[in-house]
Amino acid sequence: MIRKNRVVAIDGPAGSGKSTVSSTVCQSTGWIYLSTGLLYRAVGLIGEEKGLNLDDEISLGQLIDSFKDTLRWDSKTGHIFYQSRNLSPEIGSVRSGNNASRVAKLPLVREKLLPIQRSFITMAHTGVVMDGRDIGTVVYPEADLKIFMIASLEERAKRRILQLSKEKSPKKPQTFSPELLTDMMRDIAQRDLQDSSRKSAPLKKADDALELDTSGLTFDEVVEKVISLMKERKLLP
Ligand code: DC
Repeated sequence: MIRKNRVVAIDGPAGSGKSTVSSTVCQSTGWIYLSTGLLYRAVGLIGEEKGLNLDDEISLGQLIDSFKDTLRWDSKTGHIFYQSRNLSPEIGSVRSGNNASRVAKLPLVREKLLPIQRSFITMAHTGVVMDGRDIGTVVYPEADLKIFMIASLEERAKRRILQLSKEKSPKKPQTFSPELLTDMMRDIAQRDLQDSSRKSAPLKKADDALELDTSGLTFDEVVEKVISLMKERKLLP
């Protein structure tokens, strides 16, 4: 009998801690991690560089068609490469997140990224943690464990600023200020609205997902919680 691959789906709004938690869970369990947001970010980044209209799903669809030959994801380092160029330095920026959210509204973009995300699961030799907005609802509804991760808007904005300040991005914020926090909260709230109000696969908790509010928890506590949920589901010894 062919055993289907084990999958943990982690969905939730921007800045809820999905990607850092997922990658740490994978480092300690040996599972592999795919941040599906990186695919949407790559479409926005490369689309913009190529001068494509980010509202034109036909030309973005053609770009995604070329991905099977040009885009590569290194699950060990978490880096994504386009034609051998490491996109990581630019892909984490606020602009790239906003462009990703813009292209993610387009049904054809979502449709074309769907088989890429599913094939990642099929081809994996071990369990997979996949994070995004629609993993538990659309990409892989048969996931063994579905977590919907949330946190307050202020906490998410603070984490995002901290994360950006650690990156090597040339556009990283220099100093923390109340204005920066307000700007970041506005930016994230706008992205939440865009991600949850779109018609195609909106950000939404799956009926059978467990909600995990990370607001009052330390990073280590969230990681431990996810690992204990995986053990409860017998996904780990
Ligand atoms: O997780 P992230 O911030 O890197 O995602 C960037 C954008 O991509 C996010 O605003 C919405 C979109 N996205 C999506 O629509 N569906 C996914 N599964 C992952 C991301």
